[in-house]
Amino acid sequence: MDLDDVLEEIRAEVAPSVGTGVVADYIPGLACVDPQQFGMAVAMNTGEVHVTGDADTCFSVQSISKVFSLGLVMTHDSNRIWERISREPSGNPFNSLLQLDQEWGKPRNPFINAGALVVTDRLHSTTGDARSAMRELVRRESGNPMVDGDPRIAQSEHDTGHRIAAMAHLLASYDNLECPVEEVLEQYFWQCSLAMSCRELALAGGWLSRHGVRADGTRMLSLQQTKRINAVMLTCGTYDAAGEFAYRVGLPGKSGVGGGILAVIPDRCTICVWSPALGPSGNSTAGVAALDLFTTRTGWSIF
Ligand code: DON
Repeated sequence: MDLDDVLEEIRAEVAPSVGTGVVADYIPGLACVDPQQFGMAVAMNTGEVHVTGDADTCFSVQSISKVFSLGLVMTHDSNRIWERISREPSGNPFNSLLQLDQEWGKPRNPFINAGALVVTDRLHSTTGDARSAMRELVRRESGNPMVDGDPRIAQSEHDTGHRIAAMAHLLASYDNLECPVEEVLEQYFWQCSLAMSCRELALAGGWLSRHGVRADGTRMLSLQQTKRINAVMLTCGTYDAAGEFAYRVGLPGKSGVGGGILAVIPDRCTICVWSPALGPSGNSTAGVAALDLFTTRTGWSIF
């Protein structure tokens, strides 16, 4: 099978659905992104990278950053994060406040916004600087020393993020934040604003398909910890559409409202697909369709 041909076929096949849905506009900095873009990259564990379309265009990673913050917090703090966050699908929108209050400030999982705030909070208190820890990880693993947050996007989310600010205060009211609310929010907005391409993200997530081993061959997480992150990605990584995503794609995946999705085939490769227009649960419409085609054509789902 020639992967370059497979990717070209997928790009042609999803072309009619590129632009279907809506670009996230609740973060003003994202509202002006051209929805007619599509890119895909497959980073094999052997080192080759196969790409198609706009695979080298940078986009806002948004919630995909939550996989990297979770990986790092488990590197620095073992498994203690699970005392403060559950690992069940929420069945609710990623920014819901209701469930958090009903469940006494313990977020359902680390990938909904409330859970990600707790992860970032813990990462900030264990490392002293969550931003530097994240930046170092994504730069080293992607191979691009220039990867960084986009201050314009971070500022635009800061200026309009009343819901996420309310969520951080609600967590603090339940004593589930260690750092000051403003500091946690600043770190969170920065990590969501990371600007990366499909190629860079697929490479940066390689430790997920290498059972916790970094690009340079050193170990970041144990086999068991990496298994657990992949499992939580499968069950919770695409929010209240996680069941549909598992049904169609059959892989652990993590989406972001920038339109990217990072998916993992353990032992084989990491895939990143990007197309900005989103379906109702905040996942890229063409991105999900492309991953569905990819696992169908290659037979490489985990099932
Ligand atoms: O906090 C937010 O709402 C955004 N910065 C991230 C949300 C997100 O990417 C959810 N993904 N599908």
